[in-house]
Parts: sequence; C-alpha cells; structure tokens
Amino acid sequence: MPAKIIDGKAFAATVRAQVAEHVTKLKDAHGITPGLAVVLVGEDPASQVYVRSKGKQTVEVGMKSVEHKLDAETSEADLLKVIDDLNNDPEIHGILVQLPLPKHLDEDLVINSIAPEKDVDGFHISNVGLLGTGQKSMVPCTPLGCLMMLRDHHGSLSGLDAVVIGRSNIVGKPMAQLLLGDSCTVTIAHSRTKDLADVVRRADIVVAAVGRPEMVPGDWIKPGATVIDVGINRLDAPEKGDGKTKLVGDVHYESCAAVAGAITPVPGGVGPMTIACLLANTVTACCRANG
Ligand code: GUN
Repeated sequence: MPAKIIDGKAFAATVRAQVAEHVTKLKDAHGITPGLAVVLVGEDPASQVYVRSKGKQTVEVGMKSVEHKLDAETSEADLLKVIDDLNNDPEIHGILVQLPLPKHLDEDLVINSIAPEKDVDGFHISNVGLLGTGQKSMVPCTPLGCLMMLRDHHGSLSGLDAVVIGRSNIVGKPMAQLLLGDSCTVTIAHSRTKDLADVVRRADIVVAAVGRPEMVPGDWIKPGATVIDVGINRLDAPEKGDGKTKLVGDVHYESCAAVAGAITPVPGGVGPMTIACLLANTVTACCRANG
C-alpha cells in the first residue's frame, strides 16, 4: 500500500484557523490583540523570505505584527537594546530573533536576553530546561509541528521506537524531548552514529533533520514506519530547464514513500507547520501574560 501523505499545508491551515478564532475571542472578550515582533539582522535572502511570510501570516490571523530590520553591522549592544524594549512592551507577547545571526553577534547571549515568557521560539535556556524536565514551557515551533502531525496520525505515540536524525538545538534535541514526553523510546542519531541504516531500520518513527539532501534512502525505512522530513534543500534541476532548482528534503521521497506507512512531502509537509506553530505559541504567550 502506498504511504499516506501527511498534508502539512492543510494541517497548518487548520491550526491557523484555530489561532484566528482564539485571537477574535481575545479581542472581543478582553480587548487584547496578541503581538509578535520579529527581529532580522542582515540581508540573508532565505531569512528575508521567512520573515516576510511570518509577518503576512501574523496579520492574516488578526494579530499585531512588528518587524525590526537591522543592518548586518548592528552592534550587540544595539540589538540587545531592541530586545530589551520589546521585552518591556506590553503590546508584544512574542519575540523572535531570526537565526542565523551575523558572526560578530553571540547567538546564545542574544537569545537568552529575550524574556523567557515571550520566547516564542522556545530557544531560551529557561525554556530548554523546562522542556527537558517536562514542565510547562514555550516549545520550539518546528518540533512542535512535527509532534502535532505524529499525534494526529498515530493517536498515542506511547512505546513506539523513534529515531531523530540530527542533534541541533533548534530541531533534533527538542524533537527528542517531545517524543520522550509522549513515551517513545528515542534515539538521537547524528553524523558520528555507527550503522545509521540499522538504527533507522528499527524505527517506527523517523524524523530527519540533518540538512543533507535525500540522505535517507527507502531501504533504511521499516515497512509501515512514519517518516517526518524536516529538511528543505535546494538542488539544481536541469530536467526542469536551464538554471531551474527544486526543493528536496533529507529523505529520498519516492523510495521512502514506497515503504513507509506515512510520510511528509517537501514542500508542503513540516514547513508550513512551523509558522502555524509560531502563531499558536504567540497566542499561548499572550494568554499566559494575561492570566
Ligand atoms: N532560522 C531557521 N529556523 C528558525 C527558527 O525556527 N527560528 C528562528 N528564530 N530562526 C530560524
């Protein structure tokens, strides 16, 4: 049987509709409009695309959107001042500093200067610690989106073997914590893992988040497993004509889809869920700030 395609685009639209409904209630019942501030330092083209998309979707669900675009040479002190002002702005409930930052800026220092309760990325060390100890926290958006799709597909994840490929702070590590929180048996694999194919073959759930195009072939996948592909890689596509490119994930889609029970496509899988979860986190932060 061909794999079920997990439609992240449709799922994200449902999440956004729920967020919009919640925003309307907050406005009508309490006169509160959730506000999200995005800070972009420099001109990284991919980051500019993400930030534009975040701003557009924030407005579409009825929230206030603020963008701070700072030039690539911005000093750490100036960036920290922008964040401090947002921390103290009662109309801002969520703050996101787009990563990566230019090299002269200390990413950890900058992230940890965001008020933890406004850290809608869930990257602040307090939120990392809260998540790791199973306490209420802000949860990183991409892993949260993956978890929502997995719960929707499986119902309970309890007792399932999950392999997360990739150990980044943004995806791999928080993904593993979330799966553990749902009582999976979790393995985090990475570039030094021995016999990665064997490790992946044991998994009922595979989350690929390494940033290496089509790295996971179908013959690593246990028949019927669920494959969540976090990768977004741009490859040349000479078959589409001169200079054309295509997006591919970290798994080889055709061969994995032939074996898996369910799989997320790229594009249209995990990607759209990330921003939807960011909007949901902003509403959560707003509700917590207002009791
Ligand atoms: N850059 C790539 N992904 C992310 C993300 O989820 N949050 C932030 N702040 N920057 C990113």
